[in-house]
Amino acid sequence: MDFNAEFKRYYDIAQDIVEQYKLSGDTEYKKLMDAVNYSYGANGKRIRPVMLLAACEMAGGNIKDAMPFAAAIEMIHASSLIFDDLPAMDNDDLRRGVPTNHKVFGEATAILAGCVLMVRPFEIMSKAAKNQNQIDAISIMAEASGVHGMMGGQQIDLSYEGKKASKEVISELNRLKTGALFKASVVCGAVIAGADKKQLEAVSEYGDYLGLAFQLIDDLMDNNPDIDTGKTKGSDIENEKSTYLSIYGSEKCKELASEYTQKAVDALEIFGEKSEFLKQLVKSLESRIR
Ligand code: IPE
Ligand code: IPE
Ligand code: MG
Ligand code: MG
Ligand code: MG
Repeated sequence: MDFNAEFKRYYDIAQDIVEQYKLSGDTEYKKLMDAVNYSYGANGKRIRPVMLLAACEMAGGNIKDAMPFAAAIEMIHASSLIFDDLPAMDNDDLRRGVPTNHKVFGEATAILAGCVLMVRPFEIMSKAAKNQNQIDAISIMAEASGVHGMMGGQQIDLSYEGKKASKEVISELNRLKTGALFKASVVCGAVIAGADKKQLEAVSEYGDYLGLAFQLIDDLMDNNPDIDTGKTKGSDIENEKSTYLSIYGSEKCKELASEYTQKAVDALEIFGEKSEFLKQLVKSLESRIR
């Protein structure tokens, strides 16, 4: 398998889907539509839709059935980024290489755009759902985004600003604020493909470990002036965030990122050769800090 070619194939599909679901039309509320398109359409890595599409194919499904769900996960993610950057949360000015939503459109419109990008996915998915598997995927997506998922994680993140969190709390924080949407990406892809219980457990474990590794890597990069992330640098220290980096330092964090990456790889063993792309994907994410 040629990883770069495979990544490009999925990425190009994800980009087409993003384009397809952009808002258009001449309305009295065009400013809101522009704000939505601005963040959703900006230059993101599209890792979550890529993972959703790849998990669907790995589990033997048809990629077409997964496409509206790939659009949905990218919208939910974009929503979380708009809110995350607001002055009331991380107060950041740069995202995906461009000024943050509230810097361009103002806070009030940014809040509305974040809400649109959280609600519209559920409209898109419910209109697209043709069978029970797709209905199940909608419910998985809702749970992962909400209070017991990404949003709960964001609350822990805020509650521990300026305080010392234990390893257990930080692990829960990362598992929820970041891991929940990654896990939902692969689980939804596999559910849409009709995966069995064992396969779902495997992708779920993969998503969990990938999420933990991803946030560790994100925290390391926030603190590294030499890596271009397209985001405001040093935001975590400025906000006195509780991260693994704040308690362990960078060497131990790199070790942990490797450990979680390997655990994610191992989780996919039951899929044999078909899992090669998702295995390489988690390794490529980790290579950003090597
Ligand atoms: C950033 O996610 C938010 C975190 C969970 C750390 P990504 O690094 O996937 O951001 P984009 O989509 O490429 O902008
Ligand atoms: C963000 O964590 C997680 C979500 C957006 C849900 P961070 O606050 O570390 O993400 P970045 O670094 O701003 O992308
Ligand atoms: Mg944050
Ligand atoms: Mg942030
Ligand atoms: Mg960060």
